[in-house]
Amino acid sequence: MTKRELAIECRDLSKKFGDHMAVDQISLSIPKGAIYGFLGPNGSGKSTTIRMICGLMTPTSGQGRVLDYDIVKDTEIIKHQIGYMSQRFSLYEDLTVRENLDFYAGIYGLGGQLAEDRKQELIRMAGLEGRENQLASSLSGGWKQRLALSCALLHEPDILILDEPTAGVDPVSRRIFWSVIRTLAVKGISILVSTHYMDEAETCDRIGFIFFGKLLVEGTPQDLKEKYGLSSLEEVFVYLVQQEERSQSR
Ligand SMILES: Nc1ncnc2c1ncn2[C@@H]1O[C@H](COP(=O)(O)OP(=O)(O)OP(=O)(O)O)[C@@H](O)[C@H]1O
Ligand SMILES: [Mg+2]
Repeated sequence: MTKRELAIECRDLSKKFGDHMAVDQISLSIPKGAIYGFLGPNGSGKSTTIRMICGLMTPTSGQGRVLDYDIVKDTEIIKHQIGYMSQRFSLYEDLTVRENLDFYAGIYGLGGQLAEDRKQELIRMAGLEGRENQLASSLSGGWKQRLALSCALLHEPDILILDEPTAGVDPVSRRIFWSVIRTLAVKGISILVSTHYMDEAETCDRIGFIFFGKLLVEGTPQDLKEKYGLSSLEEVFVYLVQQEERSQSR
């Protein structure tokens, strides 16, 4: 695959905190327009990898590119190319739905009619019509998620990076959230999403499985199930963790 067809590319990306190797020589390629699911147990290094890709944290070693931009040298440009939803929500609870959107429009330097049209479009996309004046603190988890997604999409990014966007959200709201994600992918937006939910992982175009900072396997959900002769990604996940734990205790 040529560089032009890749949304995100990492080569031997590593991050060390003191003596702890949180991310250990991760290499991955995410094609444009793909939904790439990032899986791994708690503390395996998903958020740290994501933060480096977003240009929010400097790698200890290795390289990464987002579109044609370097994750160390071009951090400011990258921030405008991506929409990022962090694991902890970035919404302002004491602002209303509309005020949150206004705030993020300001951060991205959007103004005038263009910004108004964009906000309206995103309110519609998220199904937040009629809730514009509601305080973010009074929204349920599913609505908050969709508002946070709308804020991340205001500047029309080509790449969306979502760190556990549906954690703690009920199954119906998760389904609605994912149907929005898939619509965005169909429009050509590339998506990197971390999740602990295997039903979500099953619908990704590609999966990367990370454990103790290392990318153990990568491929389509079908590839991975066939590779290990297992019928679900959950079984693949459990098998890989057990295999890795056994090899580490030897
Ligand atoms: N700023 C930091 N300083 C020191 N250690 C850190 C820092 N950020 C993360 N770590 C450590 O790096 C490792 C990877 O953490 P990370 O948050 O990337 O994992 P994760 O896969 O996102 O986990 P979770 O599924 O719980 O969100 C953990 O051991 C964590 O304690
Ligand atoms: Mg995390």
